[in-house]
Amino acid sequence: MTLSTKSFEIFCGTGGVGKTTLATARALSLSQSGNRVLLITIDPAKRLKDLLGLQGDAVGEVTPVELEGAKLDALLMSPEKTIGRMAKKYQTPDLANNRIVQILSKPYGGMNEILSMVEVQMQFETGLYDVVVLDTPPGAHFLDFLESLGKIKSFFDQNFVEIFSYLGQKTASAGKKVFGLNLINRVISSGVRKLLGYLQNVTGAEFIDDFIGAVQIIYQSRDAFLKGLSLQDKLKSRTECNWFLVTSVEQGKAQEAIELRSHASHFIHQDHFLVLNKCLELELQGWEPAEPHLASLKGSLEDKEQMLKKQLQEVFPVVLEFPEIISLSPSEHIQHLTEKWKSYVPQS
Ligand SMILES: Nc1ncnc2c1ncn2[C@@H]1O[C@H](COP(=O)(O)OP(=O)(O)OP(=O)(O)O)[C@@H](O)[C@H]1O
Ligand SMILES: [Mg+2]
Repeated sequence: MTLSTKSFEIFCGTGGVGKTTLATARALSLSQSGNRVLLITIDPAKRLKDLLGLQGDAVGEVTPVELEGAKLDALLMSPEKTIGRMAKKYQTPDLANNRIVQILSKPYGGMNEILSMVEVQMQFETGLYDVVVLDTPPGAHFLDFLESLGKIKSFFDQNFVEIFSYLGQKTASAGKKVFGLNLINRVISSGVRKLLGYLQNVTGAEFIDDFIGAVQIIYQSRDAFLKGLSLQDKLKSRTECNWFLVTSVEQGKAQEAIELRSHASHFIHQDHFLVLNKCLELELQGWEPAEPHLASLKGSLEDKEQMLKKQLQEVFPVVLEFPEIISLSPSEHIQHLTEKWKSYVPQS
């Protein structure tokens, strides 16, 4: 079977099944067949860094990589670097300078998801790439990333942003640090009021000003965030995005993939691929044990794998099989898996 190239490819799946390894191998095989490829990982484990030999200061920067005779660009997401790029591109320097935004854009500061999507959109817009391959965090966490765009939209739709924007101007012109807070007291819900009052007590009025400033600045940069929304549609589209749901033959993993797909069915379109990793079939075929009990073990392993494949073929439209690579070296895994991907790619 063949597999056509689309603008985006997403690798998702539960923990440790081989998402990062297979996404890297896929990106390399696409590059070897003549595509301009960007490989992005939003996986906080940063395994890609080791796989591609990226140095510490390359984190957050688009870095050219040469591996297996192929050239591609790789990017390990760093929210702080993305904020810097957004501030530059949209000429909103305050975005990178506000203390609250700085805190929110720390790796676990809460803006990680939306910034990843904004980054993917910014990179796609450069026109430098034929394919952007995305390696996502394990399990349902990848949905947090994809759904972040919808969340930001409802954030910008809410009137309170306008209120904060207005209050920020008032605060600045009145030159009184608590002025904003007094007004807020009148217009916002008691829950938020309590929170702001509490924050003022523990952090001082200055923090409140920073907070109002942050909401304003994010609002000023809304075009950058909202543009990312068009990305969401592209990722859901069967003509623009290939979805690879990765699983492995290891115990329980296939069931996890089935559950993950049903959890994400509003996102993953119908033409997705199930990638069954670490198949033992080839290894088993080449193994001819003389001992009867080993021969029977071989037979039962083969039967088990055959049953699993049959079961998966009944519930997934296409199943792509990848062998277990018997080696301790991740670079050998990549090398063999890159070759395997080529058997699924139409050669140009
Ligand atoms: N086909 C394979 N044969 C042998 N080893 C493999 C294969 N695919 C992946 N591995 C190995 O399995 C381990 C986990 O792979 P990887 O990090 O790609 O999984 P992951 O799904 O990205 O994990 P995480 O959920 O932690 O992000 C790595 O050591 C990798 O080298
Ligand atoms: Mg990974």
